[in-house]
Amino acid sequence: MFKFVILLSVVACAFGAAIPEGLLPQLDGRIVGGTATTISSFPWQISLQRNGGHSCGGSVFRSNIIVTAAHCLQSVSASSLQVRAGSSYWNSGGVVFKVASFRNHEGYNAKTMVNDIAVIRLSGNLGMSSTIRTIGLASNAPANGAAASVSGWGTQSSGSSSIPTQLQFVNVKIVGQAQCASSSYSYGSQIRSTMICASAPGKDSCQGDSGGPLVSGGVLVGVVSWGYGCAASNYPGVYADVAVLRNWVNNAANSV
Ligand code: ARG
Repeated sequence: MFKFVILLSVVACAFGAAIPEGLLPQLDGRIVGGTATTISSFPWQISLQRNGGHSCGGSVFRSNIIVTAAHCLQSVSASSLQVRAGSSYWNSGGVVFKVASFRNHEGYNAKTMVNDIAVIRLSGNLGMSSTIRTIGLASNAPANGAAASVSGWGTQSSGSSSIPTQLQFVNVKIVGQAQCASSSYSYGSQIRSTMICASAPGKDSCQGDSGGPLVSGGVLVGVVSWGYGCAASNYPGVYADVAVLRNWVNNAANSV
């Protein structure tokens, strides 16, 4: 049942199409504790859109390269995708680019969620401005307890069927890989070496935030990946660990 619910929460992440209500996890229903913000505060944030609807977040890594989650790009073709950058609203403003190609991590596994990272090449170059900026990749995993923030247009409570139009963020604290897998939390061995966690009471990323940025110390330390519900106690948000996956991202960005 446990695994089953996690799988569903991972599947229920695309907002372009209607979400089958019965398939959504109804685990705690708490508000995820975000605050509305503007893109100037998170200028690396983009909305990845499938058939015109928001489906996932992502981060501007180079003027034509986006980093996102591999689970956001399963069974999709580049031609159905677009990226909106430079706007606080997922459905208006900024600029919209077509996706030229993408590459999922070859080691991504949908059952275990290891290596949940991907890169996208845009059809053109984003112009840098106060609302569009690249973010660097962490070279070392942030310390347990480090301050971090995560942003996105995902749901504001677990199981919600609607998303906010304005960008939201929350401040959270890093839970290191070893701590996250320890008995202090409830995931145990589901937390693998390519994952890092983050949490704060009543605050978390949620469905629709996937692929988006977890930032600490001004660099990208995590990519929103999965979790048991959202903001559930003992279950931090789980992120792809960018420091661990950094070499893959650098190589993939050159070849995508
Ligand atoms: N899988 C979700 C998505 O695709 C992200 C879930 C994050 N969950 C969490 N508790 N932080 O949008």
